[in-house]
Amino acid sequence: MRINKYLADKGIASRRHADEMVEAGRVKINGCIATLGANVEEKDVVLVDDVPVSREEKTEKYYLMNKPKGVMCTVADDRGRKTVMQFLPPDAGRVFPVGRLDYETEGLLLLTNDGDLAFRLTHPTSEVPKTYMARIEGTMTEKDLNRIRSGIELDGVLTKKCKAHIVETNKAYTKVHITITEGRNRQVRRMFEAIGRNVEFLKRISIGNLKLTGLDRGEVRKLTENEIAYLKGI
Ligand code: URA
Repeated sequence: MRINKYLADKGIASRRHADEMVEAGRVKINGCIATLGANVEEKDVVLVDDVPVSREEKTEKYYLMNKPKGVMCTVADDRGRKTVMQFLPPDAGRVFPVGRLDYETEGLLLLTNDGDLAFRLTHPTSEVPKTYMARIEGTMTEKDLNRIRSGIELDGVLTKKCKAHIVETNKAYTKVHITITEGRNRQVRRMFEAIGRNVEFLKRISIGNLKLTGLDRGEVRKLTENEIAYLKGI
């Protein structure tokens, strides 16, 4: 099995993050620094940061967090900034965030040690709808929003068609609910920036059927069995 899948199965990181760990030289197989795409078997000794990866089966863990803004969506930050890991209960173990919310964005974030689920949910083909509440500076019209709905060119590639509707608008700001099925870097902010609009505030309020309701900023809860089954069925 590929080293990235092996580390994901062991709950160490998502496949993408596992690749980053391999590239950074943090992973060893039988004493040698692993290369991207290396294969590994159960009998091999795998170390991450010189700590052996357990050969035992892991218990899968799933958390839903209301990420506050001003927090890094990563397991460790090289500049010492606060990370989402600091909001988890002490017994959470080696879970990692599923996808990213940028530093300034708050709202619904999943964390798990289930690498397969994280891989499927964040894969470009999964098309899981993610809804955000965006507060845009100034008044917006349906015409402005139509440009967002029909696709915006980011890095030379059009964003997929998306749903968006105005929740409230006045001279100072416009609140928009926008649902996208992709997860490109800072996608919502960049879509509005591309039409000359500034996003003052951004919060993810749902991923598929999972909602943020009932959690204060910084609060975390375990997913229910039903919610886990739902995510596995996506
Ligand atoms: N879009 C953004 O601009 N930021 C996020 O964190 C998520 C989606």
